[in-house]
Amino acid sequence: MVNDAHGSPALSAIHTETRSFPPNVRFAAHANATNFEYKKAEADRLEYWAEAAKRLSWREPFTEILDWSKAPVSRWFHDGTLNACDNAVDRHVREGRGDRVAFHFVGEPGDTQTLTYADMLREVSKAANGLISLGVGKGDRVAIYLPQIPEAVIAMLACARIGAVHSVVFGGFSAESLRQRIDDAEAKLVITADGGNRRGTHLPLKPLVDEAVSATEHHPTPAASVENVLVVRRTGQDTEWHEGRDLWWHDVVDPQSDVHEPEWVEAEHPLFILYTSGTTGKPKGLWHSTGGYLTGAAHTHRLVFDIKPETDVYWCSADVGWITGHTYIVYGPMINGTTQVLYEGTPDTPHQGRWWEIIQEYGVTVFYTAPTAIRTFMKWGESIPDQYDLTSLRLLGSVGEPINPAAWMWYRRVIGGDKCPIVDTWWQTETGSILLSPLPGVTATKPGSAQTPMPGIVMDVVDDAGRSVSNGEGGYLVIKEPWPSMLRGIWGDHHRYVSTYWNHFDGMYFAGDGAKKDIDGDIWLLGRVDDVMNVSGHRLSTAEIEHALVSHEWVAEAAVVGASDETTGQAVVAFVVVRTDGSGADASGEEVADALRKHVRKEIGSIAKPRTILVVNEVPKTRSGKIMRRLLRDVAEHRDVGDVTTLADSSVMDAIRDGLESGKGD
Ligand code: PRX
Repeated sequence: MVNDAHGSPALSAIHTETRSFPPNVRFAAHANATNFEYKKAEADRLEYWAEAAKRLSWREPFTEILDWSKAPVSRWFHDGTLNACDNAVDRHVREGRGDRVAFHFVGEPGDTQTLTYADMLREVSKAANGLISLGVGKGDRVAIYLPQIPEAVIAMLACARIGAVHSVVFGGFSAESLRQRIDDAEAKLVITADGGNRRGTHLPLKPLVDEAVSATEHHPTPAASVENVLVVRRTGQDTEWHEGRDLWWHDVVDPQSDVHEPEWVEAEHPLFILYTSGTTGKPKGLWHSTGGYLTGAAHTHRLVFDIKPETDVYWCSADVGWITGHTYIVYGPMINGTTQVLYEGTPDTPHQGRWWEIIQEYGVTVFYTAPTAIRTFMKWGESIPDQYDLTSLRLLGSVGEPINPAAWMWYRRVIGGDKCPIVDTWWQTETGSILLSPLPGVTATKPGSAQTPMPGIVMDVVDDAGRSVSNGEGGYLVIKEPWPSMLRGIWGDHHRYVSTYWNHFDGMYFAGDGAKKDIDGDIWLLGRVDDVMNVSGHRLSTAEIEHALVSHEWVAEAAVVGASDETTGQAVVAFVVVRTDGSGADASGEEVADALRKHVRKEIGSIAKPRTILVVNEVPKTRSGKIMRRLLRDVAEHRDVGDVTTLADSSVMDAIRDGLESGKGD
């Protein structure tokens, strides 16, 4: 079930961390959040959420707040009706905010585009009419595989507008991963682009869609559900064309009417599916509702980022292909009428100061990024951000993995000029919105701690028996009461939903994370305690990568672990046993590593490529045949190997270590 989180490098750091930064008085005087939020939520949690939900625009108001009678499936505000796109776009135009900029788009090659809320309304209406013309309707699933360009946001909102369910697949995933997700959701339409700009080159996307939906050697039948592929022209690169199936976005969308009446849906109508890695080889299609999800997204965005929509310029550097992009680029900020920056490319193209240049140019005030990015910038040196005027910034956020105190302090000093509060926000694809975070203007922040459950959220750290641990102790992070933006299930697999999240501790949602309460009761995250890795804030499953490795003809057996890495948080380290009867038997360690990296990229995507591949003679297993990942992690991190008494053959570890030391690895 769960492994222990001890030995985590984060643990030693938090033993010694005592710094604390009280809120700035001037910031606090104007902050959206006050202590009153906690008091209101404590007095009446459900009423607190009802009040937050009422800030949305409802077609039919709800009368019931929560139905938990079918726990662990919750229904929130279920007799109300609304539309997500109406809330994110139409409402602002209706209420006189149409001229406000929704997006300052910056393409990697330097092209820019400004879209106001009125522009967005025209674009999403045309796209909605375009989708309808292709026969897409309420409840149909649409896969979106696009670069970080305005059409990605428009496509998501157009789906929401007509009641279709979007399933965004991050552009870094392979054709095989895309196919798996299309098949699982039975998507009717795929929206993609010819390609995207990445590190100065054109990254192809359409050819991967072709591979994903067509008959191939691997898959003799085409993806049966897909009727059309809608293609945005982004890079202008040549692409194969399947007449009758493929259509250009501009041919379908541009001629449409820019008037469209949103489809009013019940609050529990599925808004989207987003696939994420679990502890098995098969990604889970987590699905979220409309009313509850949007309530969580908008409410947390307003409080945690202290958004002042008239004056702030907000930038979340995540990709829309991840949950952070869904909640804190598309739905939360747009419902709050925020002006945002949307950037297509990487931080080092064409130079390592690109992000700071964008902040300077657009006067970004609130910036939300990941610890991996911060650690990378630290490595590049502070002389780079020092060349830019970053004084417009007033609040900084972090998400995706534990942030080490050194990176937190660097972020505060070098990027925030020692004056910006930092919100370290803990949440998951499953939780839909931020559940743990300091509230700016209220909480005295501590470098490296996500600190406090949001108002209205009931969380705890518990021991093996599910008992709350005392301050100063560690255990498992759990959520004890339902919350509006919680996942509603795993698409098509209710049983897996219950067994994954609700079977560990009675009546509690188990998040998969280890955590510790400090002496003040503040929460410090210690990383995953299950077989899920977190590489550069991307969630990867050890089992999924092992499956990919053993599908290569050279590999007899594989074991994958997430070893700690200074920049990426964790890194994928694979131990492989090569078949002695195959064509790879004589390959050198380097050749094996090279072939397997390419193979993993093809099977899952480049984000899953192992950093290190070690060719070993055997993989350590318990007597019951379970891979001993903790031992392998110790080897990969060059730590003293822990207890091996449960190992079937303890000499295996010596052999692995010898292999490592003699440089047979990579
Ligand atoms: O381990 C936690 C880590 O990321 C996991 C969730 O991954 P995903 O669903 O991809 O969502 C990432 C963006 C919300 C969590 O189980 N995690 C996320 N934020 C933090 C974090 N770990 C520590 N501190 C955080 N602030």
